[in-house]
Amino acid sequence: MAFPATRMRRLRTTPVLRDLVRETRLAAADLVMPFFVHTEPGRRPIAAMPGCERLSIDELVREAGEVHALGIPAVLLFGIPAQKDPEGSGAWDDEGIVQLAIRALKATHPDVLVIADLCLCEYTDHGHCGLLVGGEDGMARVDNDASLDLLARAAVAQARAGADIIAPSDMMDGRVGAIRAALDEDGFTHTPIMAYSAKFASAFYGPFREAAGSTPAFGDRRSYQMDPGNSDEALREAALDVQEGADVLMVKPALPYLDVLWRIKQQSGMPVAAYNVSGEYAMVKAAAAAGYLDERSTVLETLTSIRRAGADIVITYHAKDAARWLRPTP
Ligand code: PBG
Repeated sequence: MAFPATRMRRLRTTPVLRDLVRETRLAAADLVMPFFVHTEPGRRPIAAMPGCERLSIDELVREAGEVHALGIPAVLLFGIPAQKDPEGSGAWDDEGIVQLAIRALKATHPDVLVIADLCLCEYTDHGHCGLLVGGEDGMARVDNDASLDLLARAAVAQARAGADIIAPSDMMDGRVGAIRAALDEDGFTHTPIMAYSAKFASAFYGPFREAAGSTPAFGDRRSYQMDPGNSDEALREAALDVQEGADVLMVKPALPYLDVLWRIKQQSGMPVAAYNVSGEYAMVKAAAAAGYLDERSTVLETLTSIRRAGADIVITYHAKDAARWLRPTP
C-alpha cells in the first residue's frame, strides 16, 4: 500500500514514538575506551587527540574508576615503554609498563574488563609491528614467523598480569593460532582473543602514532596491513582468524570500512568489534573546535552508524563523552 495509506512520517512525529521504533540502539554498555599508559608521572597531552592524554598508572586507575561509573564495561590498553629495542622486549616483560598497569587496574577495579592490545610497534625502536630481518642493505623486512613467538610470549605475559581479553593488532599471519596455543599451554584456556582481523593500512592511525611514538622508522605497514581497496580479502582474514580460535573479530578503522564491517558480521555470525580510530576522532574534534560540526550529535550519529553496520562492540576515544550524553535524564 502506497501513499496516502502509507505515510512514513507517521512514526516520526514524536520523540517517544521515534524512540520506540528505533532499530539500532547505542548504550554505554556497547563501548570500549582506549587508554595510553606511560612510565612517567602524571598526564601528557596528545596534540592531535584533544581530550586524550598519555597517563601514568595512577591516572589510568583513576580513569578506570570513571569509566566504570559511566557504565562502560571495558578499556583497551596501550603501553608506552621508557625504552624501546629491536625486538620490542618491553611487550613481554612481566615488569613492563602494560603488565604493571593491568595489575594495578585489576587490583583496584576488578569489574572493569581489561583488553590488552597486543603488538610490538609500541615497543620496537624501529616502530614496526614485528621482528625485522635483513637491514644492513636497507632492505629490512618484517619476518612473519619469527614474530609469532614474540607475540605469543607477550600475550602470555599480558594474561599473567590479569588481562581479560588479548587483542592482537599486528596483522602477522598465523598469530591468532600461535597466541591461542601459547595461552592454552600456560593454563589461560578461558582468556578470549579479540583479533584485529581486518586491519587496513590506514592514514587514520596518524594521531595514534604520535600518542604511542610508533611511527615506523622507515617504510610503512603495507606489507602486513590490508589494502584499503579490498573487502573479499577481509572476509578471508576473518575466516582464518575464526579457524585459528578468535573469539571476537575486529574491523579497523570503522567509518571508512562500514561495508567491510557489515560483510564480516553477516558472514561470520561472530561477535564483531569496530575500532573508531584516532584519525576519526581527530577529525570530529577539529571540526567541532572550528565550529563546523556539533560534537555531541556528530559523535552519537557516528557511533550509532557503526552499530547499525554490524558492530556489537565499538572501541572509541569518544566513549566517556558518549556515555555521559547517553545517560538517561532524571
Ligand atoms: C598497533 C596499533 C595501531 C592502532 C591500534 N593498534 C597503530 C598502527 O597500526 O599503526 C591504531 C589505533 C588508532 O589509530 O586509534 N599496531
